[in-house]
Amino acid sequence: MRINVEEAIEKLLANQLVAMPTETVYGLAARLTCPGAIKKIFEIKGRSLVNPLIIHVANPIDVCAYAIALPPHFDALTHAFWPGPLTLIVPIQLDLVDSIVRAGLPTAAFRMPSHPLTLHVIRAVGPLVMPSANLSGKPSSTDVKHVEMDFGLDFPVLDGGPCQEGVESTILHYRNSQWEIARLGALSATVFQPILGYEPIYQKIVKNDQIISPGQMFRHYAPQATLFLGDQKQITEADFIVGFTEKSYPVEKRVLYLGSLSNPHEVAENLYAVLRQLDFEKAKIAWVDMDFPSEGLWKTIAERLSRAGEK
Ligand code: TXA
Ligand code: MG
Repeated sequence: MRINVEEAIEKLLANQLVAMPTETVYGLAARLTCPGAIKKIFEIKGRSLVNPLIIHVANPIDVCAYAIALPPHFDALTHAFWPGPLTLIVPIQLDLVDSIVRAGLPTAAFRMPSHPLTLHVIRAVGPLVMPSANLSGKPSSTDVKHVEMDFGLDFPVLDGGPCQEGVESTILHYRNSQWEIARLGALSATVFQPILGYEPIYQKIVKNDQIISPGQMFRHYAPQATLFLGDQKQITEADFIVGFTEKSYPVEKRVLYLGSLSNPHEVAENLYAVLRQLDFEKAKIAWVDMDFPSEGLWKTIAERLSRAGEK
């Protein structure tokens, strides 16, 4: 059920869930102060309770209400990138954020999204927790249609059009006196250099036996089809190819185009729609062209495709 901003506000105030647009992907929102509704988010997504949620605020100042102390460069980072696709993990006062939100961790993740409709709603109802609006393990939703595919036509969704970024926010975590990337995302490491004086590194899953980003543990972004990632020898076995507009592929294969090799933003924007299209077309095996640059946003694209290909 497509709803307007007033209806979204009304439902959230009545402790119901609403799917909402952000510039990255659609989110599945509940108010931070409603643990009952937040529990429902985990249930309807089929999400593990050990995977914490991001708190979405309408102003950087709002984080101060929850934080014990703000890590260095917090103000400079939010000044440069909020509203926008950056999530910052901050140590918090435990009694102020229900443990279900942070999966029992002593930290919470914060982000100020830039979509005007969603900012308007947050200003009206207070901070929202929002995981991506997809069934756990599936590609995120970058359009209302994707939300409807996963949660049904009756589920309330605020239509904000297609998402501009197409991939989730970049998550930064301050550890051992440095910011590190806990999840690759819409902002690439290089953009932080002028602010931090260094490029934050990306730590994959575990460091010193501590989980940096719990989300890394779970299967993600995957279509039904088996994905073959870039090995030329496997191309004959595939019924579909996921590729780029300037490349040519065997004529007998059905090709779904991610976009141009000269435009990683376009590729990111189309990525989840193409993975979902494979499901829609009942593809069995899709061969993914992994022959693309390895810098910047391409790193995020490569990581998402690799994760989508994991079985
Ligand atoms: O772009 C986005 O970030 C989207 C939109 C809707 O804002 N949201 C999103 O949420 O991607 P979700 O739940 O799909 O991913 C949140 C990620 C997970 O990998 C989770 O483990 C991590 O954030 N996370 C949340 N709180 C954390 C914490 N306290 N410490 C470490 N990782 C955390
Ligand atoms: Mg997600």
